[in-house]
Amino acid sequence: MSSRLIIALDFATAEQALTFVKDLQPSQCKLKVGFELFVAAGPEFVRHLVQRGFAVFLDLKFHDIPNTVASACKAAAQLGVWMLNVHASGGVTMMQAAKAALADLPNPPKLIAVTVLTSMDKAQLASTGIQLEPLKQVQYLAKLAQDSGLDGVVCSAQEAALLRVQLGDEFLLVTPGIRPEGSDKGDQSRVMTPRQAKQAGVSYVVVGRPITQAAEPQAVIAQINADLA
Ligand code: C5P
Repeated sequence: MSSRLIIALDFATAEQALTFVKDLQPSQCKLKVGFELFVAAGPEFVRHLVQRGFAVFLDLKFHDIPNTVASACKAAAQLGVWMLNVHASGGVTMMQAAKAALADLPNPPKLIAVTVLTSMDKAQLASTGIQLEPLKQVQYLAKLAQDSGLDGVVCSAQEAALLRVQLGDEFLLVTPGIRPEGSDKGDQSRVMTPRQAKQAGVSYVVVGRPITQAAEPQAVIAQINADLA
């Protein structure tokens, strides 16, 4: 079975990322490229990972008018990425346009949505005009993403168990904030272990620093894969 571990390549330069990636095999993990690395290293770097056989999650969280987001998704898909994402708060028309832009590709990437950023608490959400509890808004936007034909959402492990029940077995739940037992929490406030995430029904875990900063990344990867198996 292919790995349910996505390693977040949060490096400042392509050189640093490549030094880390050179010891990895595509069977061990998928790779997430976010804003920092994409802005620094660009599409060329993504193409390189794809050519090496890695499933790449391009985490650029598109949020714009439907036509612009659809075009951006198509351009991302042409890089050969496995997964990409948009903000669910961009609305149904935007999400449907994004999905439609990928529909006629031979091997379309998974399209998932960001619901409420975990950096937003109740007060911050209210200050944007949304009076719902963050968890309610997460549920609302996740359902909207599903109804718009998306493949899944990014969510916290704490949200995952509820969303798994509400949205069914097929909907992808992709979850950061994962910390192997005994590892440093860093700036993540609410964390779960890989085993707990699996029990909560998470489809893929996103893990960055516990692997990228580890003295022996291979050992951490092997342990997480064993915990998720
Ligand atoms: O190093 P760490 O394991 O905390 O990295 C988690 C990754 O997941 C980072 O790339 C971070 O930007 C991303 N992420 C997150 N929390 C969210 C959404 C994305 O930590 N709510």
